[in-house]
Amino acid sequence: MASRFICVVVYLSDDDADRSYRQIQRGLITVSNPVRPNLVPTPRNGSSAASNDAPPRHIGIIMDGNGRWAVRHGLLRRQGHRRGFSRLPAVIDTAADLGVSWLSFYCWSTENWNRPVAEQCCVLGLIRQFVHTQLPYWQDRGLRFAWSGRRDRVGHQVHDQLVSAERVTANNSGMTVCLCVDYGGHVELAHAVCELARHAAAGRLNPARIDEKHIRTFLYQPDMPDVDLLIRTSGEQRVSNFLTWQSAYAEMSFPSTLWPDFSPSHLHQAIREYVDRDRRYGGLSAAVIPQGTTKDVVVGTRTSGSRDDETSVTA
Ligand code: FPP
Repeated sequence: MASRFICVVVYLSDDDADRSYRQIQRGLITVSNPVRPNLVPTPRNGSSAASNDAPPRHIGIIMDGNGRWAVRHGLLRRQGHRRGFSRLPAVIDTAADLGVSWLSFYCWSTENWNRPVAEQCCVLGLIRQFVHTQLPYWQDRGLRFAWSGRRDRVGHQVHDQLVSAERVTANNSGMTVCLCVDYGGHVELAHAVCELARHAAAGRLNPARIDEKHIRTFLYQPDMPDVDLLIRTSGEQRVSNFLTWQSAYAEMSFPSTLWPDFSPSHLHQAIREYVDRDRRYGGLSAAVIPQGTTKDVVVGTRTSGSRDDETSVTA
C-alpha cells in the first residue's frame, strides 16, 4: 500500500519563505502545490480608491552605504562594494517573483567620477563582472537587461558587456533589470533636449508641438515606466540625480539599512508601506470626494511612460 506523507513547513521569516519559494520554482524542492508567500498585504478596509493595491510597476534603488558598512566591519571600501553587489541577485529574484516590471539600480552616477580612480576601476569592474556572471541566469528566467546612462565614458570592456547583455536579452518578456551606469538625471534631460533641438532644426519636429511624450522619446530608455517606488538605503534622504524625469511621482522609502545588509525582507517591507500609500497624482483622495461626484472627473489621471505612449518625432 502506498504511504502518504504530509509535510508542514513553518516559515521563520520572510527570507526563509522567499528562499524556499525560489527553490521550489527552480525545482530544488518538489511540492505538489506551492503557495507563494503572502508578500503584499491586502489593502485595509476603508483605504481610498486611489490607493495602490498592486506591487509597484517600477522600483528604483539607490544602493547607498557600502563604504560605511566596510568601515563598520573594519574592511576596505572595495570589500563593501563587493558585498553590495552580492545583495543584488536575491533582490532581483524577489522583485521578479512579485511581478514588478522594471527594477532599476543606481550603480554609478555622472558625479561619481569625482571619486578616486581606484574606486572608479573597482566599481566599474564589479559592474562588468556582475553582468557577465548573472546573464545566463537572466536568460534562464526570461529577464531583460537594460543600461541607462552615458555610453561614451565607461571604457570599452564595460560598454561591450552591457551592450551585449542588452542585445542577448532584448526579446525576453520578464522583468527588466536596469543598471544605471554613468547615469545622471540632468545629463539625461540635457541629452533629450539636444536631440529634440536637432530634430527641430532638421525640420522633422515642430518646436511648438513638443510635449512630454516627445521628451520621453529621447530619454536613454524610452520605454522605462515612471518610478512608482524609490528606495534609498542607509538613511540618507535625497535622490542625488537619480531618474529625475521618471521619479516625478515616485513614493519614497528611506530605510536606515546599509545596502550590504539589504535583503528581500527589506524589499517586502518597503513594498508593504508603498501599498498603503494614498497616491493621488494631484487629484483628491476618494475619502474627500463629495458624494454624487463622478470619480473620473475629480481624481487626476496618471501621466506615465507606458509602452503605448510612444510618439513619433514627426508628429
Ligand atoms: C548616490 O549617492 C548613490 C549612487 C550613485 C550609487 C553609488 C553606488 C556605488 C558607487 C557603488 C555601487 C555599488 C553597488 C552595490 C552597485 P552618491 O554618494 O553618489 O551621492 P551623494 O553625494 O548625493 O550622496
